[in-house]
Amino acid sequence: MKITAFNGSPRGKQGNTDKIVEAFLRGAAKAGAETENISLVDKQVEHCRGCFNCWDTTPGKCIHKDDVEDMHSIFLASDVVVLAAPLYTDNITSILKKFLERILPMVNPYFEYVNGETRHTRRYDHYPDFIAISNCGYPEYSQFQVMSHFYKRLARETSVTLKLEIYRTMGELLKIKHMLLNPIVNRYLKNVEKAGEQFVKNGSVDEKLMEKLKQPLIPEKMYREKTNAHWKKKLSRL
Ligand SMILES: Cc1cc2nc3c(=O)[nH]c(=O)nc-3n(C[C@H](O)[C@H](O)[C@H](O)COP(=O)(O)O)c2cc1C
Repeated sequence: MKITAFNGSPRGKQGNTDKIVEAFLRGAAKAGAETENISLVDKQVEHCRGCFNCWDTTPGKCIHKDDVEDMHSIFLASDVVVLAAPLYTDNITSILKKFLERILPMVNPYFEYVNGETRHTRRYDHYPDFIAISNCGYPEYSQFQVMSHFYKRLARETSVTLKLEIYRTMGELLKIKHMLLNPIVNRYLKNVEKAGEQFVKNGSVDEKLMEKLKQPLIPEKMYREKTNAHWKKKLSRL
C-alpha cells in the first residue's frame, strides 16, 4: 500500500501537523506501507486560473508548469492520500486549498447524478482514498466541524472514500518541552503511530483507539488558563 501525505501547514516540517503525520506514517511503514510526506509549503503551486484548459484544450493537463504536475502523478499512484493541514479560520489552510483546487484536471467536465446530487465523472479508473489529519489551537473537538464537513464533501465530489479523520485539539502543546507534558504528548503520538499500523493492517482503526485520539491532552479549563498566562507573560515583556 502506498500512502502519501500532502501537508498544507505554512510551518511545514517544523509544525504540529507534521508531528502527527510523521507518527501516522511511521506506524503505516511498520505495517509494510510505502510512505511519503510532502510539505506543500516547499513546493511551487500556482493558483487555478479557472480557464478550463484542462478540460477543453489539453484534457487532463493543466496550463501551469509547476510542482503540481509531479505531485499529481504521486497522488494518482497512491492508494491512500493523507490531506493534512492545521485548522485556519475554521477550515483547511489556503496552501492546501490551492493544491486541492488544482485537482480539477483529474475529473471530466461531464456531469453524473448520484444519490440525489450532481458531480463530475472520473477521468481515471483509480483514485486514492482520503485520510484527514489536522490540529488546532482551541481545546474543543467541535472546532473541526467545518473541516470535517469539507472533507466529506470533497470525497463525495471526487468519488472516493474518506477513510479516517484524526483531529488534535490543543495542538500547540505538541511542540512544548515540559517534563509533565512530554510523556502525555509521547503517549498521544504513540497512539497515532498505532492508528497508522492498524489502518494498513485492517483498513480501519478500532473505535477504542479513535476515542483515545480524541481525548484532550490536558483538562480544557487548565489549557485556557495556561494559554492566557503564557500570553500575558509574553506580552508584558514588550
Ligand atoms: C491564521 C491562523 C488561523 C487560525 N485559525 C484557527 C481556528 O480557526 N481555530 C483553532 O482552533 N485554531 C486556529 N489557529 C491555530 C492553529 O491551528 C494552531 O496554531 C496549529 O497548532 C498550527 O499547526 P501547525 O504547527 O501544523 O501549522 C489558527 C492559526 C493561525 C496562524
